[in-house]
Amino acid sequence: MREKDKIFIFDTTMRDGEQSPGASMSLEEKIQIARVFEELGIDIIEAGFPIASPGDFEAVKAISKILKNSIPAGLCRANKKDIDACHEALKAAPRFRIHTFISTSALHMKHKLNKSPEQVLDAIKESVTYARNFTDDVEWSCEDGTRTDMDYMCKTVEMAINCGAKTINIPDTVGYTVPSEFTKIITNLKNKVPNIDKAILSVHCHNDLGLAVANSLAGIEAGARQVECTINGIGERAGNAALEEIVMSIKTRNDLMPYRTGIKTELLSKASKIVSSATFPVQFNKAIVGKNAFAHEAGIHQDGMLKNRETYEIMTPESVGVKKTSLVMGKHSGRHAFKDKLSDLGYLDVTDDVIQVAFGKFKILADKKKHVYDDDIVALVDDSMIREKNVINLKSLKVFAGTGEPQKADMTLDVYGEIKQTLETGDGPVDAIFKCIKVLYPHDVKLLLYQVHAVTEGTDAQATVSVRIEEKGKTTVGQAADTDTLVASANAYLNALNKMIIKRNKSAPMEQENRKMRGI
Ligand code: KIV
Ligand code: ZN
Repeated sequence: MREKDKIFIFDTTMRDGEQSPGASMSLEEKIQIARVFEELGIDIIEAGFPIASPGDFEAVKAISKILKNSIPAGLCRANKKDIDACHEALKAAPRFRIHTFISTSALHMKHKLNKSPEQVLDAIKESVTYARNFTDDVEWSCEDGTRTDMDYMCKTVEMAINCGAKTINIPDTVGYTVPSEFTKIITNLKNKVPNIDKAILSVHCHNDLGLAVANSLAGIEAGARQVECTINGIGERAGNAALEEIVMSIKTRNDLMPYRTGIKTELLSKASKIVSSATFPVQFNKAIVGKNAFAHEAGIHQDGMLKNRETYEIMTPESVGVKKTSLVMGKHSGRHAFKDKLSDLGYLDVTDDVIQVAFGKFKILADKKKHVYDDDIVALVDDSMIREKNVINLKSLKVFAGTGEPQKADMTLDVYGEIKQTLETGDGPVDAIFKCIKVLYPHDVKLLLYQVHAVTEGTDAQATVSVRIEEKGKTTVGQAADTDTLVASANAYLNALNKMIIKRNKSAPMEQENRKMRGI
């Protein structure tokens, strides 16, 4: 039997995914994510756009140093400065990919680039040739590919391959195409570009019409052998094609799509969790990784499931790493058992400090809560890892809520090592809490989102709170979990604020921030 064609999985969660509002990740988060992605079996990890910011540069550099099996990639525009920065960031890796792009649609060439089609062809020639000086693994993308004139696209692709590009990526940059049209585009390239067999064709679809995964699969069926995607489908605007959906579609419908990927699907849930804890929560009904993806509520469905799982289940929860919510240790469990549990849950590189803090919280939780589940442990470890880097921390909180009286919060914070306390009233307890934070650490941010989710079932469940804030066009997301929703709210806001401080300090040195705090 002929071996099934391999589909290369190119993940762009840390580049295109990070371009979604509120999805910025810290260096530490990106390193952790890269480790999980490598374990997951991703072939190429696009770690950032090195010229875009010092933070992106450092992340690509750090990730290039740790990857052993996955190939790190960096994005760059079609000019030498971008390509040099990309090479500089990637060069520590034994193998790396330079991904260079330029727009090819009439609309983009005229209004965005102010270049003629001939000038764009020249830029392709120069950029791909230049990038090949550093590596023979060069990928070229025609931005706004799906709105590009077909004959012109064929010329650009032929040129890029002639200059040495080994992967040709066709982006549906604005999420405009539909499966039947995308099939034609890929088929035309296969039939009309004379040197097309010297490169791998790739697809990169955005989700503006909710068709990113369908379009990607259409592209694969028409001959693409690389697919660009993101975990949880995060990305610009409505997002990118979701990696987990593409991979599980191929696996589940292998009768119709007889391809293989190198993804260990049992790790999809873990990858989803690590990305969502660094960015934002996954919607409950999200395919494959949403909380409800394997939940069966209706009696008739539950009855069918008990008789035969296949009645309503097209893939098993275990195949994507969703374990049945399991009861874990109780309040008498020791530190050793807790550590073992963490490694079972996939936390392999957690520092002793984080374990110490998480174990302390676990003991408190086990005292308060009847059942402690795996998801509870995950929530509190993630919470401790986020908090490890914070410069502003919650010390204590008392809230006075209920009818009649105005709601009040009495808060003590550790602000850069200084203990500060205040009592504020607000329009509701959460408002009073956020006011306290503003008084203790004066700042001017806009609250864009405040969301509460229960981690597990029951009124004693921990709540995960997500907060998104904005300052001068930059957004950050903070998350925190606690059995007390108000404590989780304070910590989530503080996490978002701490991340904002890190972002600010990337442009203004830390010292400046410290001085501001000391009032110098
Ligand atoms: O959507 C897009 O066009 C891109 C390219 C830079 C590959 O992200
Ligand atoms: Zn994109």
